[in-house]
Amino acid sequence: MKKSVLAFRQMKKKKEPITWITAYSYPMSKAAEAAGIDMILVGDSGGMVELGYQTTNPVTMDEMIQLAKAARKGAPNTFIVGDMPQGSYEVSDEEAVKNAMRFIKEAGCDAIKLEGAKRMLNRIKAISQSGIIVVAHLGLTPQSTSSFGGYRVQGKTLDSFEETVCDSKDVENAGASLLLLEAMPAESAEQVSKQLSIPVLGIGTGEKVGGQLIIMHDLLGFYPDFRPWFAKCFIPQVIHAYQEEIASRTDIKKYGIETRADGLNLIVTLAIQEYVKEVKLGKFPNVDYNYPIKEEELSQLKKSKFWYNG
Ligand code: KIV
Repeated sequence: MKKSVLAFRQMKKKKEPITWITAYSYPMSKAAEAAGIDMILVGDSGGMVELGYQTTNPVTMDEMIQLAKAARKGAPNTFIVGDMPQGSYEVSDEEAVKNAMRFIKEAGCDAIKLEGAKRMLNRIKAISQSGIIVVAHLGLTPQSTSSFGGYRVQGKTLDSFEETVCDSKDVENAGASLLLLEAMPAESAEQVSKQLSIPVLGIGTGEKVGGQLIIMHDLLGFYPDFRPWFAKCFIPQVIHAYQEEIASRTDIKKYGIETRADGLNLIVTLAIQEYVKEVKLGKFPNVDYNYPIKEEELSQLKKSKFWYNG
């Protein structure tokens, strides 16, 4: 059954990690749903990993709608978030609501995600007041990497930590129902998660938040150009199980024609299942996939009036 924001809030209360993965196509989202994922993101990262752009900036609203439509067809029973591409929500509240609505009406998404706080608070208010569920995105926000001076870890210095905590509270108050944090030390992300009542998910923010997002192509080792420090490829862990399954079939041609479970379909599903299992058990991410923070840096953050000791 498709999970709702209410279910995600209950998972936060019960401390059950929420599993989230990107998908931009029919077969990939179908595999994600079959593997038992809680949420899918049709990210603007699809502009890079599927459409071949060098950054997420060129991807258009029309391209995002095509990707989201395909993902929805593959996963009719999964909560799907459409990612607002750069240029689709900055100009005005009206345009932001109009484009957010396209994700819901044309692509069948359940929610939208947008990057940023301060200048986006009115957008978050306008979109959520129009009845659309908003996922806010803070920390490293790829659409504004040029203002950050590249892909840089956030929430490590006192200023950046305090700004992220304040921004997080602001987006929650503006109407965001979920928050995604990207690329922050686990200790800072945990602080945000503890101080908000909405579920906080992370990508590259350690295991102490309410759930994890991973880029499908990183999980599969299928993006040839780049892999961030915090991403894990799950294929090496499942290749043996895949080989055993195939070896156990006497007539592999017949089996493949009947089930389509003799190739990528099976291996992708196994890899996503492994991700889901590790996130639910708190095994991923571990320290190998976290941004480290030095003791002296952490002790500075702990002196902040925004550090919560409860
Ligand atoms: O587009 C996307 O997949 C994202 C993640 C990088 C967080 O926004």
